[in-house]
Amino acid sequence: MPTTTRIEEVRNEITALAQVAPTAKDLMQGICRALHERMLKYNWVGFYMLEAGAQPPVLVLQAFVGAMTPHTRIPLNQGICGAAASSGKTIVVDDVSKDPRYLACSLETKSEIVVPIFVKDQVVGELDIDSHFAAAFGIEDQKLVQHCAEIVGKKMEKSL
Ligand code: SME
Repeated sequence: MPTTTRIEEVRNEITALAQVAPTAKDLMQGICRALHERMLKYNWVGFYMLEAGAQPPVLVLQAFVGAMTPHTRIPLNQGICGAAASSGKTIVVDDVSKDPRYLACSLETKSEIVVPIFVKDQVVGELDIDSHFAAAFGIEDQKLVQHCAEIVGKKMEKSL
């Protein structure tokens, strides 16, 4: 039998976490800790959620693990975060220095992934991960991060 990869292990840990976490907020905190600790190239992990009722819409930083970022509130027309939330699509940037949308959080960041979170087919927020390594997010990483975003959406849906 093939050995379980690190990504599979972490995916299973996070699935288990979703079953025991009392709230979506607890789950988000647990995901930040698990991804930051276990995935060695995930150097900043955080959730941005759309502020309820805000017009124009704005993403607000919630649970995160890593250095404090100057970007705690991001309008949808700014940054890779704004682009992911407004398009509802996963965005992977292999070299942030080449993406004009990029808002710098740390000078060390080289690549980034942002995955939207949906509740009842509407974007409610996103999971954002920065790496100190270029092109850190391959297809298996994308699947892992999308799984995390999906289970947070499901948890939020259950609490409606
Ligand atoms: N880089 C993001 C901003 C958030 S910080 O990375 C934590 C962006 O371009 O939207």
